[in-house]
Amino acid sequence: MKKIAIGSDHGGFILKGEVIEHLKSKGLEVKDFGTYSHDSCDYPDYAALVGEAVAKGEYDCGILICGTGIGVSIAANKVRGIRAACVSDTFSAKMCRAHNNANILCFGERVVGHGLAMELVDAYLETPFEGERHIKRIEKITALESK
Ligand code: RB5
Repeated sequence: MKKIAIGSDHGGFILKGEVIEHLKSKGLEVKDFGTYSHDSCDYPDYAALVGEAVAKGEYDCGILICGTGIGVSIAANKVRGIRAACVSDTFSAKMCRAHNNANILCFGERVVGHGLAMELVDAYLETPFEGERHIKRIEKITALESK
């Protein structure tokens, strides 16, 4: 995972900046889709920008942050082709890649601290999709988008 799209609302704005610095320090390419200030804004707007860019294949994966991580994950999952996982523990950050091949990682600035957030990001980025039996399950998720 080398090209990463990132976005947040005002509730995730500070942590987004910290995650961007963390990703850059690891030599990863990151595109910031906003928000760009503390001003109150609507999380679905940023979830849509990141979700659509990832779904088009312009980025290897996305990271979305809001107050809880819940709003951005619900919104991003409305974009066809997106599997967004809202996590707050390292095991889930690994498993959402290993089993669910999540293409967007979501978490909340009001839920996780700085250290845990960086651990979630690293765990997610460093874990490969296991494939095999999980492929047909993901295909069933994709099929739901056509119903
Ligand atoms: C904004 O106050 C907050 O509702 C938002 O960041 C997020 O937590 C929504 O799920």
